[in-house]
Amino acid sequence: MLNILAISGSLRAASTNSALVAALARNAPPACRITVYDRLGRLPIFNPDDEGERTPHEASALIDAVTSADGIIVSCPEYAHGVPGGLKNALDWLVSRDAAVGKPAMPVHASPRSLYARAALAEIMRTMSFALYDGGLEIALLGKKAVEVEGILAEEANVLAMRNALAAFADFIRTR
Ligand SMILES: Cc1cc2nc3c(=O)[nH]c(=O)nc-3n(C[C@H](O)[C@H](O)[C@H](O)COP(=O)(O)O)c2cc1C
Repeated sequence: MLNILAISGSLRAASTNSALVAALARNAPPACRITVYDRLGRLPIFNPDDEGERTPHEASALIDAVTSADGIIVSCPEYAHGVPGGLKNALDWLVSRDAAVGKPAMPVHASPRSLYARAALAEIMRTMSFALYDGGLEIALLGKKAVEVEGILAEEANVLAMRNALAAFADFIRTR
């Protein structure tokens, strides 16, 4: 059984990125369990003075969740051509640890734009030594209302795309 942690970089209640990671969790292949990390907004702002014994509980919980995961999935919006601060903050808590080193990671995309954020996220995660899976997945949900989002995510072609992407990512994890 592969244990995958899925992180949405948006805190918005009606987030399309959060809807995408939730749909991926629902469509996990039989040999995979996908857990959604939903505490991004609770993390204190990263401060290197608060590492080691002073590491806050919420940050330790994130570090433990990433450490024990076989792989992670990240879906994030683009804000002002960058990665949202909340997600960057979460990643910053992982930098001086082993949690990210060699950890398989698959970026997925809910917006057909966000090209700057995609490139920035890939650069950050490569620098942190995540093992980035290039395949990825894009389902265009930008600007859709919640009910439309659920309809799009339930379309047969998109369910198949999610299952195929997850199966390919699971193979990537297993062959590492
Ligand atoms: C403050 C702010 C800045 C944004 N900047 C960009 C941007 O630079 N490029 C872009 O493609 N979209 C930008 N967007 C649009 C979001 O990336 C887009 O709405 C995204 O799909 C929202 O994700 P969510 O539904 O998961 O919250 C911005 C949105 C906000 C609120």
